[in-house]
Amino acid sequence: MSNMAVTRESFDKVMVPNYAPAEVIPVRGQGARVWDQQDREYIDFAGGIAVSCLGHCHPALVGALKEQGEKLWHVSNVMTNEPALRLANKMVAATFAEKVYFCNSGAEANEAAFKLARRYALEHFGEQKSQIIAFNQGFHGRTFFTVTVGGQAAYSDGFGPKPADVDHVDYNDIAALKAIMSDNTCAVVMEPLQGEGGVISPDPAFVKAVRELCDQHNALLIFDEVQTGVGRTGDLFAYMGLGITPDILTSAKSLGGGFPIGAMLTSTAIADSFKPGTHGSTYGGNPLACAVAEAAFDAVNTDELLGGVKERESWYREGIAAINAKYSCFQEVRGKGLLLGCVLNEKYQGQAKAFLEAAMNEQLMVLVAGANVVRFAPSLVISKEDVSEGLARFERAVAKVVNG
Ligand SMILES: Cc1ncc(COP(=O)(O)O)c(C=O)c1O
Repeated sequence: MSNMAVTRESFDKVMVPNYAPAEVIPVRGQGARVWDQQDREYIDFAGGIAVSCLGHCHPALVGALKEQGEKLWHVSNVMTNEPALRLANKMVAATFAEKVYFCNSGAEANEAAFKLARRYALEHFGEQKSQIIAFNQGFHGRTFFTVTVGGQAAYSDGFGPKPADVDHVDYNDIAALKAIMSDNTCAVVMEPLQGEGGVISPDPAFVKAVRELCDQHNALLIFDEVQTGVGRTGDLFAYMGLGITPDILTSAKSLGGGFPIGAMLTSTAIADSFKPGTHGSTYGGNPLACAVAEAAFDAVNTDELLGGVKERESWYREGIAAINAKYSCFQEVRGKGLLLGCVLNEKYQGQAKAFLEAAMNEQLMVLVAGANVVRFAPSLVISKEDVSEGLARFERAVAKVVNG
């Protein structure tokens, strides 16, 4: 069966239609370049939605996968394993955290975080302390709990009764948060830079106020760093650049560099509320996933790589500014490090998808973040040549949209 021809039409025939994938089917990648079934080459500024932190088929990741693949693939959590313990040691050493829980995706990491926060509040303060506050336009995953905590009701409507006691306020609105918080607040959940919601940075005063309000009300502060973590913003985790420390942090995407893994990090005092049997996952901490993630973490957690992210951000910002000087379609470039959003101005409202499609026609993969933002989340080690060539392709795409 492995040589059976498959095409984009096969998707419509045999796959559940919850996605609407592009026409091209990528078949291989190297660094920041990808080739499709017809051997057409693309530059990848999307990174599999902020996942491929070292590009495609990085030798360190391929090496770790092959080495572990010949040793031990799976044991489940009736036993622990060396790659998981090594990775946890490194994550603890590099962050505020004292304890790590592994799972397989960002949604699962957040699901664990929300359940842990509820259990911790129940144990320490009583069952009245169950309110979870999150932010409009936030995104935390697609399980029913995480999509309910996410700030777009359209994604959680239509599936029956939702998990209760979840409230939303506007991001960066200190007064609104203050008004809704009380001693019954169990946790505040935020992305330290909203990704899917439009690449929106938090105001420094807002971040500080969130931390203070959480302390005041004995609520846990959960940072969803699924998109921002592991080098994406130029810090190992975005909280490090914001001057505050969360109580629980979730990571996924770049953590595995393309191999599925998620993690929840916290203190010992909070982690202790997850006693044996309270939560789990068959594949969580899988040796293959943890071996690849360990190699990715080693590569990202260096001054050279993190400094390189900031340098690359300036290449992008300069290149986009030069394009905008000619075509006047962006009102600003938002974001940090290599999570950047080109915000369309009045004239091009709602047309982000048109820019994405035009880029694809020029053999460049980009992302959108809502209808008005074209988003870039490339490899953290993308070369100057690939950035220049990709931006040249982006300029041609912009010209096509602008000139019609
Ligand atoms: C901030 C954030 N949290 C959670 C998720 C969900 O992660 P996953 O798709 O791995 O479940 C995403 C995915 O885009 C995300 O951006």
